[in-house]
Amino acid sequence: MKKTVFDKAKKEAIDIMSHVYDPLHDHYHVMAVRREALRLTKLLGVEKAVNSEALELACLWHDTSRRVIRQHAYISPFCDGIISARIAKKELKKLGVDAETIDLIAKIITRNETYLGLFPRKHFLESSIFSDADALQSFSTERFRNFLSYVEVGRFSKRVFAMYLLGFLFLLERNVVKFNHAETIEIMHEEYIPELKAYFEKNFDRIAKLTLWPIQKLVYHKIIKRFPESISVSYTPYFISR
Ligand SMILES: [Fe+2]
Ligand SMILES: [Fe+2]
Repeated sequence: MKKTVFDKAKKEAIDIMSHVYDPLHDHYHVMAVRREALRLTKLLGVEKAVNSEALELACLWHDTSRRVIRQHAYISPFCDGIISARIAKKELKKLGVDAETIDLIAKIITRNETYLGLFPRKHFLESSIFSDADALQSFSTERFRNFLSYVEVGRFSKRVFAMYLLGFLFLLERNVVKFNHAETIEIMHEEYIPELKAYFEKNFDRIAKLTLWPIQKLVYHKIIKRFPESISVSYTPYFISR
């Protein structure tokens, strides 16, 4: 792919996400997913096997569905990937990305769609890396920090904040997040969890101001008190070729 086309395709996705239709799925989120996907590719030593342009663009375009579905957390698990892939296909074609790469990008994005884990699908290399990078972001401190400040300045409601906190607690409680690569879990346990736990502890008063006491209690007991022990996240993946 020509560098100018690739750069435009990256910029366009970041521009779409910068509108922040959804407090947890903004441009910072997709840029972090891209960064971690590239880091994982290196850690796995698969730089040569991976189509990194397609992987990077899939990371940046994977949540563009938010332009349409906004912050409706209850519908996003069911159509997020499908809508994002459709938007990516249409826009990337306009930007001059070749058909084969567009096809792969759409595949990477939609393979991640499991309908709340009810219909898990077999991954191929790029989709498995993207999926792990995206899942890692569920534990990102930067993401919560941005979210909290969006709510504090009134950009999103307290109701949306409470809904997402409950969603996060559910995810921890049910061990919904699954990773394909053991390296990812190590990153999470070494970097993500201690930082996020410390962040919640330090900012508990700010969080409490925006939520009712039952949620405050849950946050205190489930996140601040026993967060690291509450997750077991590995499973043995089975890959197919793309
Ligand atoms: Fe998503
Ligand atoms: Fe995402």
